[in-house]
Amino acid sequence: MSQPPPTDQAIHVRVWQELQRASQDRDHEWRTPVLSTSGLDGSVQSRTVVLRRADGDAHELVFYTDSRSPKVAQLRAAPMASLVFWSARLSWQLRVQAAFSVQVSGAPVDAAWLAVSVSAAAAADYLGAEAPGARCSDGGVASGDRHHLAILTARVRSMDWLELSSHGHRRGLLSGEGVDWLVP
Ligand SMILES: Cc1cc2nc3c(=O)[nH]c(=O)nc-3n(C[C@H](O)[C@H](O)[C@H](O)COP(=O)(O)O)c2cc1C
Repeated sequence: MSQPPPTDQAIHVRVWQELQRASQDRDHEWRTPVLSTSGLDGSVQSRTVVLRRADGDAHELVFYTDSRSPKVAQLRAAPMASLVFWSARLSWQLRVQAAFSVQVSGAPVDAAWLAVSVSAAAAADYLGAEAPGARCSDGGVASGDRHHLAILTARVRSMDWLELSSHGHRRGLLSGEGVDWLVP
């Protein structure tokens, strides 16, 4: 027997609650979604990223990256991109359509760098002398003298939530405050 859909408001609240938990819990499966962007050559480019912050009121998700990484140029050229999250524990998939903006300087970037640089290993991700994706030189990966941390902010347009269940799958397209219930 299939389950009744949850109320529109309840599902919005639950999804943002899990996103927020994932941004703070290293073991949450939604901590590391896959981000897909449009490549500069028209291809689709996908990679794993770490969810750093989720703000349900602002409908925003935040990620950190190296400002020289190809995804930054891709998002500047084509800001609409998608994220996919899967949690076996929840049996939930979330596909997010969002408009991305890139910040490479200013107070939020300074604050993020301050937080990241507490860990030398984490800071090293943004201190490379060479851009991510560049060919390794003979000397291996050298460290530069300034950081290249950039903040990616995803302004969420819609979220396609899918719950797998032996009692019947459920799927809802969340946009604004409403939900369109879809055939899974
Ligand atoms: C578990 C995991 C987490 C990652 N987190 C990030 C991240 O938060 N930001 C990031 O830029 N790259 C992250 N990466 C590396 C990216 O997947 C990717 O290899 C790199 O950013 C280069 O992507 P690009 O060439 O498409 O720009 C992560 C990789 C893994 C496996």
